[in-house]
Amino acid sequence: MKNQNIYILAIESSCDDTSAAVMCNDSVLSNVVATQKIHEEYGGVVPELASRAHQQHIVPVIHQALAKANIDKNQLSAIAFTRGPGLLGSLLVGTSFAKSLSLGLDIPLIEVNHMQAHILAHFIKDEASTKPEFPFLAMTISGGHTQIVLVKDYFSMEILGETLDDAVGEAFDKTAKIIGLPYPGGPLVDALAQKGNPKAFPFPIPKVKGLDFSFSGLKTSILYFIQKQTAEQPDFVEQHKEDICASIQYTIVSILMDKLKKAVKQTGIKRVAIGGGVSANSGIRAAVQKAEKEKGWTTFIPKFEYCTDNAAMIGIVGFLKYREGDFTDQSISAKARYNIPNP
Ligand code: KG4
Ligand code: ZN
Repeated sequence: MKNQNIYILAIESSCDDTSAAVMCNDSVLSNVVATQKIHEEYGGVVPELASRAHQQHIVPVIHQALAKANIDKNQLSAIAFTRGPGLLGSLLVGTSFAKSLSLGLDIPLIEVNHMQAHILAHFIKDEASTKPEFPFLAMTISGGHTQIVLVKDYFSMEILGETLDDAVGEAFDKTAKIIGLPYPGGPLVDALAQKGNPKAFPFPIPKVKGLDFSFSGLKTSILYFIQKQTAEQPDFVEQHKEDICASIQYTIVSILMDKLKKAVKQTGIKRVAIGGGVSANSGIRAAVQKAEKEKGWTTFIPKFEYCTDNAAMIGIVGFLKYREGDFTDQSISAKARYNIPNP
């Protein structure tokens, strides 16, 4: 007899986090994430090291996810996995594992687009947050992505704008590195920014057409600014760290909010959902709350563990696709470049 409940094991390995989750319908029973510390000493993710670490982590992480959920692998209804986008070597580990497991257990296999999953993470059942109604705007901001998407339905999405170069998290991390902060610098910039003056050092806002973003120019102008100042005053960074961080954060948040406001104006949609690791940033949270009050927006930010890379977001897509019988077969392969499908 078939289970009434749908149990999905989800696997995420697109970048530097190995994660496995077990879902019962739209509820998370477990969501285990093994973060790879190895990259810290290199100041960024090293793809070859990431895929090796995924190979070491994947078995224990899946075991832990099943044990925490108190689910036996024979109870599973399907396996969902991240097909892309991401680092190919990293994606291959999760993809191969998911394929073998589905073959071994003789249960369906579900492929998931990582960017779509960041957005559908808003539909994970959680007492503390409400789910957005369609249509809504989703802004995904993380170390790997910066996108504004018009979400018409679960599987009907249109990318309105995205970064032409660095992702916003990279902008935080790379500028943090310029002022000597360890990787990942985003949370450290945020902490220091809260004690500084955001208008101390004005940095230029790039002029980019439409709803696209660009962050590489900002990084360069900050680099030149710091080089010039330290040539005159060697301890400039030490003396002004808080003001520098506040100014960097203010500029980045202004870039994001300018485009988000433009997207709201363009579409007339005031429901705005934010996801990705950078949504933890205090500056962006304050700006979004201000827009709620002043512009009548309704905003949605999922629990932080569903904002950063995690398998629960892959699991919710798995559940939604399972309901539609949207399965894939063993001929599927990982895809490093993989846009959100737009039917
Ligand atoms: O979603 P995530 O965990 O992984 C990726 O898919 O990249 O995002 C990580 C990124 C890093 O760039 C990190 O510096 C940034 O999110 N980040 C922050 C904050 N917390 C994490 N950036 C600014 N302020 C924060 N509080
Ligand atoms: Zn991501």
